[in-house]
Order: sequence, then structure tokens, then C-alpha cells
Amino acid sequence: MTRTPVNVTVTGAAGQIGYALLFRIASGQLLGQDTPVRLKLLEITPALKAAEGTAMELDDCAFPLLSGIDITDDPNVAFDGANIALLVGARPRTKGMERGDLLEANGGIFKPQGEAINAHAADDIRVLVVGNPANTNALIAQSHAPDVPAERFTAMTRLDQNRAYSQLAKKLGVTVNDIKKLAIWGNHSATQYPDLFHAEVNGKNAAEAVSDQAWLADTFIPTVAKRGAAIIEARGASSAASAANAAIDHVYDWVNGTAEGDWVSAGVVSDGSYGVPDGIISSFPVTSSGGNYEIVKGLDLDEFSRAKIDASVAELVEERDAVKSLGLI
Ligand code: NAD
Ligand code: LMR
Repeated sequence: MTRTPVNVTVTGAAGQIGYALLFRIASGQLLGQDTPVRLKLLEITPALKAAEGTAMELDDCAFPLLSGIDITDDPNVAFDGANIALLVGARPRTKGMERGDLLEANGGIFKPQGEAINAHAADDIRVLVVGNPANTNALIAQSHAPDVPAERFTAMTRLDQNRAYSQLAKKLGVTVNDIKKLAIWGNHSATQYPDLFHAEVNGKNAAEAVSDQAWLADTFIPTVAKRGAAIIEARGASSAASAANAAIDHVYDWVNGTAEGDWVSAGVVSDGSYGVPDGIISSFPVTSSGGNYEIVKGLDLDEFSRAKIDASVAELVEERDAVKSLGLI
């Protein structure tokens, strides 16, 4: 292998998503089969031993593309020379915790990580935030990395998109390969808006193909938006393999480009498009080419879609204002 390895930093590496993610990165599924990777794992001190155990297993796979593994509890070391950063580790909401407490606890994680990325990452750094609340955590990290172009910070809504594909395919008796342009708008939360009005099924408008507006509004949207909670209820733990899979999809498409005539979903910094306030990290339909995600422009939004997007964006504005008042951005 003659190419220089790409440094991929993964935070929360000893967690359940980390366990589902690292083997896929090391096997070449994140960046492609011609790209060697060096993994840089960040964990909190008590979880370092578990991360070392995972690294032993990675060694035992003898992945031809894996050129090395570093394990640390120091963000300055973890992000040193990072080309790709997957920010997975976050503070989960626990009993008795208020929303402000959760945002504050995550500020304590994503502020220093943003600063470390600013100081030490490679010039081409691309960041995907998975840890919840993903959009606002991405905003916190981004606001502490003033030397990194803002568009290099993204939040994951690809899992929501993938969920929407499967739900629609089942309803129409088609496969996911028959569906295109099904994107998520807004926050990675129960207010998100999976948009069938711009989606296509075998070239036809998906909302028309469904032809059951009650299913669209009362079943499809809430099923997709609340799927994370349904998984927690069923599994007793939040989604892990599907979240790791979506992270792979997000980064692969960002780096390698999206398919002609299609788009995907990602939380990206708003440029004011569709009335979403500048600087908010909101999910949009996006395309990628040359290593940049760009918001798809010029889509018409009917009253139904407008109201759904506005509600989710209002929640993002509230979260932004809350972290601002806590001095986190
Ligand atoms: P987990 O609790 O199994 O693992 C999280 C890991 O992060 C732990 O090992 C913990 O030690 C580590 N960690 C905590 N603080 C850290 C820090 N400051 N630096 C480095 N590591 C740190 O959780 P999980 O199931 O892997 O989920 C991780 C996050 O992803 C959660 O916030 C979850 O809600 C979120 N999530 C997001 C999506 C999405 O679609 N965006 C989907 C599923 C889960
Ligand atoms: C998911 O969508 O599966 C997760 O964001 C749920 C969660 O709260 O961790």
C-alpha cells in the first residue's frame, strides 16, 4: 500500500456505536478499498482499558488497510493530524436531568474537542457529530474551531433517512433501490421532517405514490421520527449498528460524492436557505462533489412541509439559544 494513511479519530470508541463502527472503518468501508487508515481512539480515562480491548480485536482481524491504532484520553493527541473525526462519545440523558443540564454536560465535551480540532487537526479535517443532541453538539464544537471552515462540521441525520427509506419501501412493496431523493429536514429529534413530497419512487413522486395522506402524516412521519425511542424500548439500548452504518454512509458520500440525480440528508451549517437561520446546524437535502456537501437549492415547499420544517428549526433555535445563554457558544 503506497498511499499515506488517512487519520480517522473516533471519540467514544469503547461505546456500543464505537464497537460497531471501528471494524467497518478498518476494513475500508468508510473511505474505500484503496485508502489505508490510521485509527485514533479517544475515550475517557476509565474506558481506556475497554478501548484497548477493542484495539486488540482490531489487531486480530489483520485488516490490510489498517496502518495503526492510537488510544488516548487527551483530545489534543486524538485530533492531532486528524483528517476525519467521528464524534460519537456524548453524555447521555439520565434520570432527573433537565434539558439545560444535558446541554451543559455536552458542552463540557464538545467545547474542548472543538478547540483541540482547531489547534491540531489536519487542514482537510471533516467532522461528523453522532453524539446527541447531535446538531447542537456539532454547533458547540464548530463554534470553538474558528480556523476550520464551518461547513466541515456536520451532524448525523443519515440514520433517519435510512429509516425513512425502509418504511416507505415496505409500505409500497418496493425495494430501497427504487427510492431516491428522500431527505430529512431539521433536527435529529422527534421534530424532524422526513420529506416524501420531493422523494421519488421509480421516477414518480413518492407522496403521490403513497396516495394515503393519513398514512404519510400519522404513521410514516412519527414512525421515522420516533424510531430511535422504539429501538431503545425494544433493545434496552439505543441503536448502535444502524447508527454506525449511517455514519459510514455519511462520510463515504461526503468524501466520494453522491450519485448523479440523487441527494442525501446531513446536518450542515445553514446559509439561510429555506428560511433556516444562518449558522444553525440543520438537516437538509444535500449533494456532495469534490469533498463538499452542498444544500440542494430551489425546492418548492408547500404549507404542510413548511410548517413541519419551521417546527423542527424552532427547536434548533431554542437549543442554540440555550447553549448561548450557558456560554457554550
Ligand atoms: P455508549 O454510552 O455505549 O458509548 C459512549 C462512549 O462515549 C462511552 O464509552 C463513553 O465512555 C464515551 N465518552 C463519554 N464522554 C467522552 C468524552 N468526553 N470523550 C471521549 N469519549 C467519551 O453510547 P452509544 O450507544 O455508542 O451512543 C453514543 C452517542 O450517539 C449517544 O449520544 C447516542 O444518543 C448517540 N446516537 C446518535 C444517533 C444519531 O442518529 N445521530 C443514533 C444513535 C445514537
Ligand atoms: C437514535 O436515533 O437511534 C438515537 O438518536 C436515539 C438516542 O436517543 O440515542
